[in-house]
Amino acid sequence: MSYDLIVKNGTIATASDTYRADIGVRGGKVVAIAENLEDARETIDATGLFVLPGGVEAHCHINEPPIGKVESADTFETGSRSAACGGNTTFVPFANQARGQSLLEAIEIYHALANGNSYIDYGFHLIVSDATPDVINRELPQAIKDGFTSFKVFMCYSDVMIDDRQILDVLQVAREQGALVMVHAENDHCISWLGNRLTELGETEPKNYARAHGHVVEREATHRAISLSEIVDTPILIVHVSSAEAMEQVRWAQSKGLNIHAETCPQYLFLKEEDFDRPGWEGAKFICSPPPREESNQGKLWQALKNNVFDVVHSDHCPYSYEGPAGKKYHEHEGGHPHFCHVAPGVPGIEVRLPLMFNEMVSNGRMDINKFVALTSTNAAKLYGLYPQKGTIAIGSDADFALWDPAREVEIRHENLHDGCDYSPYEGTRVRGWPVRTVLRGRTIWNDGEITGSPGEGNFLPRKLYQTPLKTKAAE
Ligand code: URP
Ligand code: ZN
Ligand code: ZN
Repeated sequence: MSYDLIVKNGTIATASDTYRADIGVRGGKVVAIAENLEDARETIDATGLFVLPGGVEAHCHINEPPIGKVESADTFETGSRSAACGGNTTFVPFANQARGQSLLEAIEIYHALANGNSYIDYGFHLIVSDATPDVINRELPQAIKDGFTSFKVFMCYSDVMIDDRQILDVLQVAREQGALVMVHAENDHCISWLGNRLTELGETEPKNYARAHGHVVEREATHRAISLSEIVDTPILIVHVSSAEAMEQVRWAQSKGLNIHAETCPQYLFLKEEDFDRPGWEGAKFICSPPPREESNQGKLWQALKNNVFDVVHSDHCPYSYEGPAGKKYHEHEGGHPHFCHVAPGVPGIEVRLPLMFNEMVSNGRMDINKFVALTSTNAAKLYGLYPQKGTIAIGSDADFALWDPAREVEIRHENLHDGCDYSPYEGTRVRGWPVRTVLRGRTIWNDGEITGSPGEGNFLPRKLYQTPLKTKAAE
């Protein structure tokens, strides 16, 4: 039997097992996992390397519409390239419905933006910002049938948020049709009231962003989102949980047996509120929603990762450049520094999500490599209807691998990354462990510093319906 590709001598790690074996690939699929495989057109020697399922990055913003003059720094080409260089083989950005726009039309627009431009496989979550009767009764059910089985709703941001009643409508569709609703949980009225108050007091520096988006603002909305989910009796996933107080709401709900999923992000595990005090205008680089919290908050999130409160860790890559006429620093002329209310929220991080997490979880021994795979690949594939095609290494799965050198030491420098942004909030962070090779359906697309893939190799992935919970959390 001959193979297109054999990956030899590596240590395979999945969400459950770690073992030495060779992997045989044919037609882009894993067809053999065994000792001493022979006879292939191409052989990769993975001696000394971990062979992991390719990362699944299921929270990123690519080519989204500008916020005022501030434009997204990434297209599907640059965003997927950066993801590939960071060990990811699948990503799921958002197709963003503008107010007044048909949801199905928004999907068509994002298809056109992505088609022929992505280095890696992709799907779309939908952002539902206009929950009209037609969207609820016709468009959402149709979109779910077409493979868009997850959508995000916002409890803040006046141009995209929907009210609690509309969220209940969206949840009801999700329940009936088998989809998963992702919730951005921050209380809009509190944010704008606090923002106005701080402005009146002349408190406009970037650090005030964290005050307007305080713990209580996130905690209240998280509890409310959980209540809405309970009323409809359908699961939700709370995205980008930053505050330990919000995390405690999730844990409380899980302990009651409610099916509440949660995501956190590297910015809440590695960045901190004090970063807003960096000299000059640098604090604007760290503005994202919700914001990084004080350092003591980080330890509580790490503990919650260990205790399975969180299912997934994604980058929430939302790239707005810092410099230039459309950058985060753009409003510097307003009172001598960017007013925190006017800085486009979001940080880049799609390429360094996996290295940051690998370094802390595996190299520094906080958790094992299987848990790293679960949090960064397998669980997302399961939650978002891609498993077992994606998110694991198994017979019949896509041959998507990230080959990791656990000894490679790297200092993160934006000049070495591949996104379209002009900075990294993690500049200067040192990590041990790096994805030296990325393989998409049997084809190497990133090889030790060289991009060997090309835009257009990534395929659109219609996704399966949301299925059973990952586990019964209350029992843990
Ligand atoms: O600040 C953030 N997170 N920007 C991206 C939009 C969102 O809410 O995820
Ligand atoms: Zn959000
Ligand atoms: Zn986001």
